[in-house]
Amino acid sequence: MSQSIDAHVRHCLRGDLRQLEFGHAFAHDRALIRQMFRRHLRGDCCFLVVEVAGVPAGQAWVELPLAPGGVGALWAVRVRPDIRGLGLGSLLVRAALGALVSRGAATAELEVEPHNDGAIRFYERLGFRIEPGPPLRQPPGPALRGLLVMRRPLSGPAQEAA
Ligand SMILES: CC(C)(COP(=O)(O)OP(=O)(O)OC[C@H]1O[C@@H](n2cnc3c(N)ncnc32)[C@H](O)[C@@H]1OP(=O)(O)O)[C@@H](O)C(=O)NCCC(=O)NCCS
Repeated sequence: MSQSIDAHVRHCLRGDLRQLEFGHAFAHDRALIRQMFRRHLRGDCCFLVVEVAGVPAGQAWVELPLAPGGVGALWAVRVRPDIRGLGLGSLLVRAALGALVSRGAATAELEVEPHNDGAIRFYERLGFRIEPGPPLRQPPGPALRGLLVMRRPLSGPAQEAA
C-alpha cells in the first residue's frame, strides 16, 4: 500500500449491501449484488468486502471451483472511486485468491474490458495473464461480449507474483 490505511478484508454482511453500490456508481447492479449475497449465504460463492474505518469500501465476488483442481473466478472487483490507488484492490484480490486456494482451485479466472488498461495492468501485477478463448466460468448477470479473459495458476511460481 502506498500509504498507511486501516483496512481489512472480511465476508459481506447484509448491512453492507446498499453501501456497496458506492452511491450511484453501481446502483444499476443492486439486484445482482443482492443475488450474489444470497448465493454467499448458501455457500455457493464467497462475497468479500474490504472495510476501511468501519465502512465497506470495496468488494469482490469469488466464484468457487466446482471440484478440487478446478477453476475459480473473480467478479466485480471494485473499490470506492475516491480511495482507489491505495492498495485496497490488491488486498481484495489477494484475499480472493486465498479463498480460492483454500477451496482447492488450481486456476483463477476473470474477465476485463479490453479498454480498461488500468485494470489489466493491475491484474498483471497480481500474476494474471491474458489468455485466448472463452471463459471457463460463466459470469453472473447479463452476458457481455468482447471481454478479455485473464487467468493465473494458484500454485507454483506465479503464486509468488501476488
Ligand atoms: C481496478 C481497481 C479494483 C483497483 O483497485 P485499487 O484499490 O485502485 O488498486 P490498487 O491500489 O491495489 O492498485 C492500483 C492499480 O490499479 C490500477 N487502476 C485501475 N483503475 C484505477 C483507478 N481508477 N485509480 C487507481 N488505480 C487504478 C492501476 O494499475 C494502479 O496501478 P498504477 O499505480 O500503476 O497505475 C479499482 O480501480 C476499481 O474499482 N476500478 C473500477 C472497477 C474495475 O474496473 N474493476 C476491474 C474490472 S474487472
